[in-house]
Amino acid sequence: MRVLETAQQVREWVKQLHAVHGLTIGFVPTMGSLHEAHLSLIDISRQRTDKTIVSIFVNPAQFSPGEDFDSYPRDEEADLELCRERGVDAVWLPSVDEMYPEGFSTYVEVEGLDTQLCGASRPGHFRGVTTVVSKLFNVVQPDVAVFGRKDVQQARIIQRMTYDLQFGIEIILGDTLREVDGLAMSSRNVRLTPEHRLEAPALHQALSEASSQFQEGINEAERLLETVRNRIKQDAPSGKIDYIQLVGWNDLQPVEHVDTKSLLAVAVRFGSVRLIDNIILEK
Ligand code: PAJ
Repeated sequence: MRVLETAQQVREWVKQLHAVHGLTIGFVPTMGSLHEAHLSLIDISRQRTDKTIVSIFVNPAQFSPGEDFDSYPRDEEADLELCRERGVDAVWLPSVDEMYPEGFSTYVEVEGLDTQLCGASRPGHFRGVTTVVSKLFNVVQPDVAVFGRKDVQQARIIQRMTYDLQFGIEIILGDTLREVDGLAMSSRNVRLTPEHRLEAPALHQALSEASSQFQEGINEAERLLETVRNRIKQDAPSGKIDYIQLVGWNDLQPVEHVDTKSLLAVAVRFGSVRLIDNIILEK
């Protein structure tokens, strides 16, 4: 497995594989602290392409002042070992200095899809994500890139950006991987206190309960949202609800009735740890 540091090294590696050997390249961007869910995205990339490259970069541009940039878990050695074991061909570890040189002033922004959900509670977050992902895409120029459905707003925004900016990259979404009790895997889970860890599965339980109601024929947003709210209040009393929203899949704007593919999504804070989860409602 190659461990690459500069954009130049990545470009040379990619050029060799693409132009000289005619191979396809799959890309899995991450912020490290890898867990089984990241590895499942790597598996998808490996099934779809000849060579897989993973980037590990805790991107300062997507954290607001006061968010957890400094305390975001980092473990480079363990991450490299996991990538090696999983058959990754190259890992790119960009430096903050190379990604954001002095005077950096170019940003990529997808309008409209960021007004609700996490976009509303984390102003500027998605601008940071789309800026870094477009920079990573420009350097790697993969055939395929894989993102997780757990961060569904991010995935939808990246799909839109890839289409609008004509990157010519196929975006594949991997299913949300969960712990046995239903909690969506996240690098931030390790920072939950034992008490909060016991309450955290309530997010998925609440979404599943509303999804069952929907399957039984209830499609009014207010009733489904109420179900989620009640379940979280009851089973996760120490959680502070950031949002519970029901939005359309295409425009990510609130809906009153579920008539077409929609997303029921939640964000809840446990102490300083903010967890998100979602479920797709579709007949
Ligand atoms: P990170 O949080 O490290 O996540 C990397 C990828 O793993 C994302 O596509 C995310 O959706 C996916 N992922 C995380 N937890 C998952 C789970 N439980 N099931 C399925 N997929 C999961 O997302 C980012 O990094 C960054 O914003 C990034 C895109 C790298 C840009 O900086």
